[in-house]
Amino acid sequence: MREISEKAYAKLNISLDVMDGRDDGYHDMMMVMQTVSLWDDVRLTLNSEGKMSASSNLRFIPGDERNLAVKAAVRFFRELGDEQSGVHVDMQKRIPVGAGMAGGSADAAAVLRGLNKLFDRPFSLEKLMELGADVGSDVPFCVMGGTALAEGRGEILSPLPPMPRCSFLICKPEFSISTPELFRKLDASPMRRHPDTQGIIQALEKGELIQICRRMYNVFEDVDDRRMRSVAEIKGALLDNGALSAMMTGTGSAVFGVFDDDSAAQKGLEAMKSYCPFSCLAEPVSIEN
Ligand code: C5P
Repeated sequence: MREISEKAYAKLNISLDVMDGRDDGYHDMMMVMQTVSLWDDVRLTLNSEGKMSASSNLRFIPGDERNLAVKAAVRFFRELGDEQSGVHVDMQKRIPVGAGMAGGSADAAAVLRGLNKLFDRPFSLEKLMELGADVGSDVPFCVMGGTALAEGRGEILSPLPPMPRCSFLICKPEFSISTPELFRKLDASPMRRHPDTQGIIQALEKGELIQICRRMYNVFEDVDDRRMRSVAEIKGALLDNGALSAMMTGTGSAVFGVFDDDSAAQKGLEAMKSYCPFSCLAEPVSIEN
């Protein structure tokens, strides 16, 4: 087999807490993460000249090793000890870029999963996640998918019971936010509020959506940055339109609301389209590996 297609699912943070800065420039985190039914289509085509490249429907996305998908391919073949094989990765991108939805990491994870299938599964899921950690902090979760607690810099993962049935209304404003910049600003501002991560885990165990919603929070929302005012406005609009709770995902700029009622979510979508150029509905999904 020379070709394979994989879905690269986006993630949302159900909670995001930052514990400590570390000596290696990263931060220790505690996050509940969820893969959702919004995906990029990733098509892998093998070659035997050791060539690595990428293309996509978005012109500004690099086609070389600056692209996490190419980085993941290089890491995979290095671990395999195969210098002859290469791959072209073509991505049909739907996950908004610069949204905090791990779009680039999801593509990288899809490359690792797809290559592992094309080569008859030389690596276990754990090993693929380890390779993913060398590519980016969110890649191991994107390899695993489903609902999980992420600790360390995001690569220490514990599976959690699945998110109860719900709809996410996701809104990405036009601006994007740089991840390292927001981490720097977080270090300079006091954290006033934290999510109740343990409470969310207990609520997941009981399947209680309302209790999860009450405890969700992202500490980045408190950072002193004028863009957080727009985030707060979008959250307010989501709540006004019937969301049980609303939160920014990752380092933004996407914000999402949680709905237990499909028709309310659909109505909310129509209303939010005037606020955000990118608005869509998605549901929790798990990944078949
Ligand atoms: O691992 P990744 O390349 O995705 O991280 C991008 C940047 O985000 C890092 O260089 C660092 O500035 C910041 N980061 C962090 N702590 C984490 C994850 C990312 O400070 N746990």
